[in-house]
Amino acid sequence: MMNVRSGVETLRWRAGALEMIDQRVLPARFEYLRHGSAAEVAQGIRAMVVRGAPAIGCAAAYGIALEALALQQESRGVFGAGLERAFEVLAESRPTAVNLFWALKRMRRVWDSSQSRALTEIADILLGEAHEIAAEDVRINRAMGAHGAALLADGARVLTHCNAGALATAGHGTALGVIRSAVEGGKRISVIADETRPFLQGARLTAWEMVQEAIPVTLITDNMAGHLMSHGEVDAVIVGTDRVAANGDVANKIGTYMVAVLARRHGIPFYVACPLSTIDLSVADGAAIPIEERAAQEVTGFRDCQWAAQGVRVRNPAFDVTPAELVTALITEKGVVMHPNRTSIAALFGA
Ligand code: MRU
Repeated sequence: MMNVRSGVETLRWRAGALEMIDQRVLPARFEYLRHGSAAEVAQGIRAMVVRGAPAIGCAAAYGIALEALALQQESRGVFGAGLERAFEVLAESRPTAVNLFWALKRMRRVWDSSQSRALTEIADILLGEAHEIAAEDVRINRAMGAHGAALLADGARVLTHCNAGALATAGHGTALGVIRSAVEGGKRISVIADETRPFLQGARLTAWEMVQEAIPVTLITDNMAGHLMSHGEVDAVIVGTDRVAANGDVANKIGTYMVAVLARRHGIPFYVACPLSTIDLSVADGAAIPIEERAAQEVTGFRDCQWAAQGVRVRNPAFDVTPAELVTALITEKGVVMHPNRTSIAALFGA
């Protein structure tokens, strides 16, 4: 068995602070930024230092732990009020990826159940929970990888959109985790990475991850996917997701819907790698998923280069919704759910 190890540590705990790879400057520079409070972590999430649904959830959990550690010598009142503010500022950082809210809920449950303890102990317990959320994320990604790898044939050419790799998680990745697991199992997989306008997660992050590990990767601009599919050059599509509704509708990076429609048109399977923490049973369907709108400057240019006319009106929805009917299967840590629907999704939670 080949060993495909992603050496990327997206987030790491060092000397009492959270360090996160600055994903805004990759691949030109590889550097960690230090985050010492919940407000700094929230700012890191908002500014896209860290991005990707599971990674955002892990970062938020560490944000709560950081605040608890900073306030552990204060009175209970000050500790409680400070922690509440931390929950608020983190919950406001980005709206679409449900893993953020899932992780905050989990941290709140731990806080609630440890209220009677000393503040120093509560802070320790919250830090332990943040570490556990991150470690669990890697285990879940490996389980999804094992289930999903079986869906890919030897020699498969797999198109992916955005970055659902180690950089979007605590390690291994969701969609790229499936690809890594298939390669580990001896399959010759090649990746077609959509560049993913406007933030270029595909060009900057997915291509970088694959090049690091010598997994063959071809970069295309988003508008080339249909051409390649029509020429028989794509065998499967795998993407990650930011939130799956109770009926199986999938929110993911803007442009995913377009890829799913193209895949259906060409009879290509469209797989979504999705940890259970990304499924939100409280939203009935995709129409109820909040879609983040980001700054116009992301569309009118990139960094210092502006190419659009000054004053032009811009739309910049960061995510779109792919209806469940276009999803061939959800790949979860509990197994593969073919043609997901309300009943099969509820069954994942034992309902
Ligand atoms: O805006 P981003 O970069 O946070 O968007 C990320 C995505 O859309 C990913 O595909 C999704 O979070 C799944 S990551 C495992």
